[in-house]
Amino acid sequence: MPENDSRSSSEVVAIRQYNPKTDSKQVEQVENSCEVGPIAELSLYTHLLGDPICRIRNSPAYLMLVAEMVDDGGAGEEKREIVGMIRGCIKTVTCGTKYSRSKTLPVYTKLAYILGLRVSLFHRRMGIGSKLVSRMEEWFAGNGAEYSYIATDDANGASVSLFTGKCGYTKFRTPSVLVHPVFAHRLHVSNRVTIVKLTLSDAESLYRHHFSTTEFFPRDIDAVLNNQLNLGTFLALPKQYIWAGSDKFLSDPPENWAVMSVWNCNDVFKLEVKGASKLRKGFARTTRVVDRALPFLRLPSLPKIFSPFGLHFLYGFGGSGPLYTRFAKSLFGFAHNLAKECKCGVIATELSSEDPLKLAIPHWKVLSFTDLWCIKRLGEDYSDGSVGDWRKSQPGLSIFVDPREF
Ligand SMILES: CC(C)(COP(=O)(O)OP(=O)(O)OC[C@H]1O[C@@H](n2cnc3c(N)ncnc32)[C@H](O)[C@@H]1OP(=O)(O)O)[C@@H](O)C(=O)NCCC(=O)NCCS
Repeated sequence: MPENDSRSSSEVVAIRQYNPKTDSKQVEQVENSCEVGPIAELSLYTHLLGDPICRIRNSPAYLMLVAEMVDDGGAGEEKREIVGMIRGCIKTVTCGTKYSRSKTLPVYTKLAYILGLRVSLFHRRMGIGSKLVSRMEEWFAGNGAEYSYIATDDANGASVSLFTGKCGYTKFRTPSVLVHPVFAHRLHVSNRVTIVKLTLSDAESLYRHHFSTTEFFPRDIDAVLNNQLNLGTFLALPKQYIWAGSDKFLSDPPENWAVMSVWNCNDVFKLEVKGASKLRKGFARTTRVVDRALPFLRLPSLPKIFSPFGLHFLYGFGGSGPLYTRFAKSLFGFAHNLAKECKCGVIATELSSEDPLKLAIPHWKVLSFTDLWCIKRLGEDYSDGSVGDWRKSQPGLSIFVDPREF
């Protein structure tokens, strides 16, 4: 049953579950009218390609709620308008580690994630956003989630104030979203490195072996890797190393190596930067024309970001050895060239604020930003043992950003 909140004698706001048969058009209209964050002094918008639950449907459990303004006009002729929505999903992730028989093991928690909260421009500051959050949190708690978190652009004042104020979240982690345009020319990949595409089982073994104790590592990593949006896991190895499967690699790895996976957001949603002047658009177009005509000059150029564009998300970056960051950079070049073939506008990755890789991965500052992750404990009676209250823990060197939620 929808929950009602009286606004005036004839208007109420009802919160109910999203119905794909009747709501998708209206939801997309609200979505298209909401800026999701600034890029320099411009605004970023999302296009969901007709599927409003595209950003949550790959998670193990998910829900989308809509806020509907219901006006009975006082004369029995009811008008309904969708004015806001929220998506949420739940999964199990690593929140810390414990030691057992001289091994470091992950400690898991059931974690909920809020994303895609939008309220139409004309209905803001009426309490609709906070109502959507609290209804979503009821669903999280009812499904056993121990914590809820959200990611928002640090510069998004309304969102930061909503969550850290009324909704009771605390600032938790501040990873960096690094964004790089896809040029019309290919990037150079070092010929001292071999790049191997791993089988799903090799990728899973490697990730579980090396990353399961990393904060936010999803326990269902196999489902992530098996998803059709996952374009593959790639391992950069020294040229002379002969790849013979993950067992051999894990027992006797080369001194330097790096790994990375690629997620195809291009088929799920598009982004668009709005608010640019004609001059700026013209300049961007010119850089592109020159880059396309003379690729051997390797000139940096701006793709068409002023009309809807897609992206690939690079996740699960990691590795080992003194030259590890150089190997990671080769993977980045490889991923850029793959994104070029797939006609993406940009490639993006998200790394912990403490991650040394942050300095090595090429990105454009003007397109990149700090992501603010805020967290809330949904109850006080959890037995998270050695980890205690996760909200109070120190950040590690890296985090595992789940591509399903980017
Ligand atoms: C963020 C957003 C969802 C807030 O929705 P809303 O319905 O206006 O929020 P509420 O009315 O429930 O606001 C609750 C509290 O949040 C804070 N808040 C909301 N908007 C704010 C703003 N523009 N500036 C400062 N504080 C704000 C206030 O403390 C407010 O309480 P108050 O009105 O009593 O002062 C809405 O602004 C929006 O859709 N923005 C664009 C999309 C977006 O950024 N989504 C968040 C991504 S995670």
